[in-house]
Amino acid sequence: MSKIGIVVGSLRKESFSKKVANNVAALFPEGYETEFIKIGNLPLFNQDYEGELETPAEYTTFRNTIKELDAVLFVTPEYNRSVPGALKNALDVGSRPYGESAWNGKSAAIISVSPGNLSAFGANHHLRQSLSFLNMPIVQQPEAYIGNVAELLDQEGKITNVGTVQFLQSFVDTFVELIKRHNA
Ligand code: FNR
Repeated sequence: MSKIGIVVGSLRKESFSKKVANNVAALFPEGYETEFIKIGNLPLFNQDYEGELETPAEYTTFRNTIKELDAVLFVTPEYNRSVPGALKNALDVGSRPYGESAWNGKSAAIISVSPGNLSAFGANHHLRQSLSFLNMPIVQQPEAYIGNVAELLDQEGKITNVGTVQFLQSFVDTFVELIKRHNA
């Protein structure tokens, strides 16, 4: 069984990104289990936690959780043309201590989500930049930009548009291929 962690960049209860992530989680084939990874409880990263201050227990739990994953799917909105601070904080927390990054070598995929029609392009590419640096092999094609998201979700938070579901399925299939190749 391969374990896929899903990190959602929004902490909002009714988050569109979370709803999209729920739809995508259902598209993984047999043999892959998904787990949503909490990031909203992580104290803001402070490098003093590596010295004079005690490491927060939430950091240790988070790092251990990431280390046990086979791959990570990021589903994020865009804040001011970049990723939300909560997501950047989680990346930073997981990347430390120096030389012991929990992200190192984990296969990854990015879906950016927006109610607007620019589809959170800026967040998608800023995140890609950090993940490249963190030495994570990332799905390159297809790129996943989900724009005008409010129009894609029904009352229950389900994506009903057949073309979008097919696209997300092909995206997940490509991710699974990457994981198989990389984790072989
Ligand atoms: C936004 N929003 C936004 N949208 C976008 O497409 N590009 C952007 O740069 C921004 N910037 C931005 C900054 C801040 C601080 C907020 C709160 C919002 C709008 C954003 O896409 C919208 O609120 C989404 O609904 C957020 O995603 P979730 O919470 O629905 O997943």
